[in-house]
Amino acid sequence: MKVIIRNNSAEASVWAARHIADRIREKAARTSEPFILGLCTGSTPIETYAELIRMVKAGEVSFKNVISFNMDEYVGLPKAHPESYWSFMHKYLFDHIDEPAENIHILNGNAPDLDAECAAYEEAIAATGGFDLFLGGIGEDGHIAFNEPFSSLNSRTRVVTLTEDTRIVNSRFFDNDMNQVPRQALSVGVATVTGSKEVVILAFGPKKARAIRDAVEGPVSHYCTVSALQLHPDGIIVCDEAAVGEIKLNSYKYFKAVEEAEKL
Ligand code: GLP
Repeated sequence: MKVIIRNNSAEASVWAARHIADRIREKAARTSEPFILGLCTGSTPIETYAELIRMVKAGEVSFKNVISFNMDEYVGLPKAHPESYWSFMHKYLFDHIDEPAENIHILNGNAPDLDAECAAYEEAIAATGGFDLFLGGIGEDGHIAFNEPFSSLNSRTRVVTLTEDTRIVNSRFFDNDMNQVPRQALSVGVATVTGSKEVVILAFGPKKARAIRDAVEGPVSHYCTVSALQLHPDGIIVCDEAAVGEIKLNSYKYFKAVEEAEKL
């Protein structure tokens, strides 16, 4: 695992966006196969998406041959609801880049058969040959996508029940009323994410510091599902200074030294 540490979220987001763009361009230079990209929602990736939009508009990267799958979606929230992840992704990314609409995949939280929707999503991912890169954020408890504590680290796309903590945290998007936050979601599993060739996780701000400490220095545990990244050969966590505020000084120095040596 690598931990990239930048002074603030703006610098960290630029690093992440340029890393994703580099990977898209590298693949395009060697094959006409599409680039398979996993994407996330939340306030954390917004600046990364803004930099990707800038790069697309400047002609520095193209999403024409990118196929994307989003991590998760609330159950029962209308697609057009401003807080649906469908709305979020179109507002902050898809409406501004050149990814063809048919290449965009977002779980349908209103499907008549939710289990069938999840199974079809896994099949659609497998049919592409698998993710080249999965971009994710984390919850304050270290959940990845909506894989709450005690989700199996071998989990796949399925219906999940949100914890009260997550519904309280996410109530900031629902008039601070947790009763408006859906109780269930569809979410890719931990294994869906870690099955990607590369995983890039963003974590900014002091509220993520405990989760980052657990993910980086704690055991691999279903209690902090992003800790599964420890078993991944190509996992990167991109943080601002605040998010690494709880790791040991020696760990901090180690990751900084790796960055310096590898000019990341
Ligand atoms: C939700 C999403 C996660 C996201 C998390 C953090 O729980 N399902 O994918 O990582 O929120 O959101 P934020 O970036 O707003 O802190």
